[in-house]
Amino acid sequence: MNGSPLPRPKIEVRTPDLAFPADLPHHWLAGNAVATQVFNGLNLVFPDGERFFIRAVRDCAGDSLDPALRSEIRAFNGQEGRHAYEHERYFEVLEAQGYRVKGFLRVFRRFLDWSNRLMPAPLRLAITAGAEHYTATFGAFAFEDPLLDQAHPSMKKLMLWHAAEEIEHKHVAFDVLQATHPGVWLRRLGYVLATLDLFGFSAFAARMLLRQDVQAGRLRRADVKGQRAALQAAQAQFAEPMKARVRAYWRADFHPSETDERPQAYAKLAELGIA
Ligand SMILES: [Fe+2]
Ligand SMILES: [Fe+2]
Repeated sequence: MNGSPLPRPKIEVRTPDLAFPADLPHHWLAGNAVATQVFNGLNLVFPDGERFFIRAVRDCAGDSLDPALRSEIRAFNGQEGRHAYEHERYFEVLEAQGYRVKGFLRVFRRFLDWSNRLMPAPLRLAITAGAEHYTATFGAFAFEDPLLDQAHPSMKKLMLWHAAEEIEHKHVAFDVLQATHPGVWLRRLGYVLATLDLFGFSAFAARMLLRQDVQAGRLRRADVKGQRAALQAAQAQFAEPMKARVRAYWRADFHPSETDERPQAYAKLAELGIA
């Protein structure tokens, strides 16, 4: 097994007190509909995606794994299960706000059921490790993202808690893959498929929600371009470092723990009052 180069502290399953108020604004991220729906689009794929990850890791992890890694898998399952639960609670707010999301969720679930039935477990695990690289990458930048300071406090807490735990467990699926199916091309194929699935489905969901905003008169079609430009300008500083991280996963000797954002993650959790 490829060991992580960093000390491996206990991965903790936290149960933060998250409340989603009934009067949460429709466009809770800096008042920008495009920015909000980009996040909401990701939010819609998280719960079923995270259950897919848990299953892929479980289907590949056998008794031969190092006991330390097996205990990390249990914590990984606990964290991902909790993320799915909290993000799904937020779906109720979206529906109460008038968004129609059930049809999208049904199609996405059918796609994942199909993947679980037809794809071999090692490929599902490789997709999981690749998707976890994205969640860890988003997480790493979330701690320093000034846009998040303009998010509604409830959503800011949800996102930063999730980001911190993605950082904490970012090596788990990768290490199970390395221990059980170490081929670099399987890892790279999983990464390509994770990229297509994650961005394909979440971008589709974001567009669907923006369309619903326009139909409901919450957003003028003419404003979409300006809001997209504002989002791109706010994120411009992250474009190059993010591309470098995305490329790094392709290297044969890549390991998720070659960067360590845990100090920022723990500082953020302390700031949010999450023990
Ligand atoms: Fe997660
Ligand atoms: Fe994760």
